[in-house]
Amino acid sequence: MNILITGGAGFIGSHVIRRFVNKYPHYQIVNFDKLTYAGNLSNLKDIDEKANYTFVKGDICSIEDVSNAFKEHQITHVIHLAAESHVDRSIENPLEFAMTNVIGTLNLLSVAKSFWKDGKDHVFHHVSTDEVYGSLNETDLFKETTAYDPRSPYSASKASSDHFVKAFFHTYDFPIKMSNCSNNYGSHHFPEKLIPLMINNILNMQALPIYGKGENIRDWLWVEDHASAIDAIFHNGTLGETYNVGGLNEWTNIDLVNFLCRLMDEKLNREPGTSASLITYIKDRAGHDMRYAIDATKLETELGWKPSIQFEEGLSKTVDWYLENQNWVKDITSGSYQEYYKKMYS
Ligand code: NAD
Ligand code: DAU
Repeated sequence: MNILITGGAGFIGSHVIRRFVNKYPHYQIVNFDKLTYAGNLSNLKDIDEKANYTFVKGDICSIEDVSNAFKEHQITHVIHLAAESHVDRSIENPLEFAMTNVIGTLNLLSVAKSFWKDGKDHVFHHVSTDEVYGSLNETDLFKETTAYDPRSPYSASKASSDHFVKAFFHTYDFPIKMSNCSNNYGSHHFPEKLIPLMINNILNMQALPIYGKGENIRDWLWVEDHASAIDAIFHNGTLGETYNVGGLNEWTNIDLVNFLCRLMDEKLNREPGTSASLITYIKDRAGHDMRYAIDATKLETELGWKPSIQFEEGLSKTVDWYLENQNWVKDITSGSYQEYYKKMYS
């Protein structure tokens, strides 16, 4: 297989690439990434010398960039993760999200379709999000059959891309698979997102900005467990099918941040309560979805997938990674992020 993995320099993409390059030395892995503010090749410095790994700088919205990569690397399979991924940024700039997430996905589908006319086995695995299902009440879980109800510009753009992916399956018999995952956490997570932002601010004794009352619920999954789910679905999932991915690990934002504060007080030898004193409630996110939670029964029963790690252990490992990789944080936050942070939080 010659697999084009888009968005491989980002958070989840880098974990997927690391897994595939190490586990499948007989596959050729091509990392196709535009290197936006969220992409960082140093995420992959431990594997970038491997013989089965190549990086191609390119834009999924460009017919030329994508066609050249398909031609030059004889691409037989795609795992598509490239996207604009941050909800707050989508509220400020919805058009950019439509361009990358909708048009970019459609372009990638169209180019792949034009190249894959040889009757051989191909797979286009589209990586999506649970946010396309909308906001849950207190008890339900998102199933693969839950109706789409996207409510932010980000989730609307992901929902639209999902619909194009399914449309290609139904209209052209194009070989797609799809996964919709809950919130990921772990190493190499861009510091604009809740968990790395809080770790950073706790470390630097800065305010911990909680939107609204902090009662919104997210279902957190270790990023390497997402990568293992993608591996299972890519190899063993049924064409045309969607698989939900999640770890039944729901936390309100305020409980999660308080837990992180206790953990970091311990690790940094601070007086108990020091970090929690930084918690600051700020204006809520516009249209803030109340609760996400995934039912992953289909993935577990049909493909035998299971999360490998408990949240408490995963969070502790994540904090250790950030404490040991402060240069990574400095590098990735040194550019336009400073301006973004000021605009968002001051
Ligand atoms: P990320 O923002 O960390 O990384 C996105 C990557 O895509 C970056 O490397 C960026 O340079 C690249 N990219 C952006 N626009 C591009 C373009 N036009 N052409 C080529 N590359 C481009 O994102 P992430 O959190 O790793 O998410 C990856 C995928 O997983 C996304 O599709 C996202 O919707 C989905 N997802 C994320 C989560 C989560 O919790 N982070 C959960 C479920 C699904
Ligand atoms: O559910 C999957 C989705 O999870 C992915 O599709 C998205 O790409 C990913 O960014 C994530 O979206 P969220 O909006 O849930 O993640 P975020 O880390 O931005 O926020 C998590 C929760 O924390 C959310 O309820 C908003 C809240 N929050 C976030 C930030 C950045 C705060 O209270 N304060 C903050 O400063």
